[in-house]
Amino acid sequence: MFSHLPTPHTDPILSLSALYRDDPRKEKVDLGIGVYRNSQGVTPIMRAVKAAQVQQTETQDTKVYIGLSGREEFNQNMVKLVLEGTSAMDRVSAIQTPGASGALRMLGDLIKVAQPDTTVWLSNPSYVNHRPVMEAAGLKVRLYRYFSTETKQVDTAAMLDDLAKAGPNDVVLLHGCCHNPTGADIDFPAWKAITELAQKNGFIPFIDIAYQGFGDGLEEDAKGVRHMADNLDEVMITTSCSKNFGLYRERTGAAIVVGKNTKDVTNAKGKLLQLARATYTMPPDHGAALVQTVLDDANLTAMWKEELNEMRMRLVGLRHTLCAELRSVHKSQQFDFIESHKGMFTVLGFSESQMIQLREQFGVYGVGDGRINIAGLKESDILYVANAISTIAG
Ligand code: LMR
Repeated sequence: MFSHLPTPHTDPILSLSALYRDDPRKEKVDLGIGVYRNSQGVTPIMRAVKAAQVQQTETQDTKVYIGLSGREEFNQNMVKLVLEGTSAMDRVSAIQTPGASGALRMLGDLIKVAQPDTTVWLSNPSYVNHRPVMEAAGLKVRLYRYFSTETKQVDTAAMLDDLAKAGPNDVVLLHGCCHNPTGADIDFPAWKAITELAQKNGFIPFIDIAYQGFGDGLEEDAKGVRHMADNLDEVMITTSCSKNFGLYRERTGAAIVVGKNTKDVTNAKGKLLQLARATYTMPPDHGAALVQTVLDDANLTAMWKEELNEMRMRLVGLRHTLCAELRSVHKSQQFDFIESHKGMFTVLGFSESQMIQLREQFGVYGVGDGRINIAGLKESDILYVANAISTIAG
């Protein structure tokens, strides 16, 4: 049976980590996979998470199953983080999932069951796993224009033009904040305009907000999704604790469904649980237990928010310094757009062969679509990276 299998494609992000690890050069910089690293190049366990872990070790006295939807208190906490203050709070349900990719798949499967002929519209470009997950769920995928390679900002007019063609059989996947891979975010007037299109033409927004807290702050980053939840009958949301709680390997996320009424979202949740049962049965608990411990304790919550804000501000500083170094070594303002981008990523505007050159010549690892992870930079790497980018740009 297996001899008929073709050689599989490797994942463009995950394969880079292995390449980087096996690169024997001393001078190398990993700007591939989206993880935050501090000035020492370490991805730390956040202070509040560490404290929660100590509490967990001391107080947890069983590992018995919890249930198909994971921890309900965690689910409610996730809903609050994303939707607090909206009118959707009494017509929403959520399940805990193995990371945001698990949430994407569960919601993809739910769409396939609820409305089999759905087309999911993705931004061009989008997170590399969006298309594979939606296609694996059996859904059709279409792209909407999003990023102007000229200005390195969102081409709002082109985006709205394309989204005006989406109708009742369509779901539009949006990035809540910190667009992956480009770093270019939709502004609030554009969120309002997309909401009006959804009202008029009947498509359903599906918002991936995996980077909440890394853009303009926890509350600011949720402004778009909250506006949609307030003004639309149906919205789907995926969220993650990989980045903002630094729980990457613990696979901690949630799938959230906003519906017309309690009955609809209860049924949607019931279907999600059946789908989960047939896929992985239950989500892993450890990460959700830590998040719940943090969010149930006012002191730990304050400690977590403070550190998340420090991380966010450090990213702003890294962008600023990288821009300044690029201005000085490249003697141009060609890369000034980096400072206007949000969150971990920026698309440099390099071709795939330029990204390979960057890697082969300088050991600077970015994704083939031109994405670099600003959160992977150490302050001591910035000049080296600026020189490398400047040389490749010519
Ligand atoms: C990324 O985009 O680098 C991260 O979200 C990691 C992943 O799962 O692809």
